[in-house]
Amino acid sequence: MKFFLDTADLNEIRQAVSLGILDGVTTNPTLIRKAGARDFHEHIRQICELVPGDVSAEVTAVDYEGMLREARQLAKIHERVVVKIPLIPEGIRAIKTLSEEGVRTNCTLCFSATQALVAAKAGATYISPFVGRLDDISSEGMTLIGQVVQIYRNYDFRTQVLAASLRHPMHVLDAALVGADVATMPFPVMMQLLKHPLTDIGLERFLKDWEAYLQAQKSAGA
Ligand code: E4P
Repeated sequence: MKFFLDTADLNEIRQAVSLGILDGVTTNPTLIRKAGARDFHEHIRQICELVPGDVSAEVTAVDYEGMLREARQLAKIHERVVVKIPLIPEGIRAIKTLSEEGVRTNCTLCFSATQALVAAKAGATYISPFVGRLDDISSEGMTLIGQVVQIYRNYDFRTQVLAASLRHPMHVLDAALVGADVATMPFPVMMQLLKHPLTDIGLERFLKDWEAYLQAQKSAGA
């Protein structure tokens, strides 16, 4: 499973890169705004220079021509840019055209398995079903991830399932269990994945005992 960071915050990205487990980054207009990016394209370029893998950058046009125009500009920023396109009819048309041009896409705002099927047929590189936002409206977001994984397997679609809108470690665990190709998560969630109180308690005890052992060695030698 690939781990993507769902952020546009350069400091968070640097910290995740330093762990050596980061495979990519997803951004959206909300995250770009939150990061206080002065120049959108320049900010995406900086992220690409930090991250070893794919970086999703989203178009804001909602018409076919506008999406193509923005997508081609975004794709020129860096070879690792993947263009995020919303799952609307104009977006599907744009994904089809872009995939024929060799521009990689991440089809975003997916909330149903039929939408994911259409995106794969259009040639999307990634599909982003939103788990947390479905949970927010009392729907089982993870069921959607499982359905999309199954459908893509049935027909050997090459579109990768990118579990998005993950809010806590259990979302990541469940996405891994149902076979999502990628989990994109906020930085705090990535850190929570490796945290366990028994690890901290155990380490503290080992270090204390090691200190006592060294003291005993010293006393025996004196
Ligand atoms: C990423 O591609 C999505 O835009 C993001 O995961 C949405 O997350 P949210 O529902 O927590 O805003």
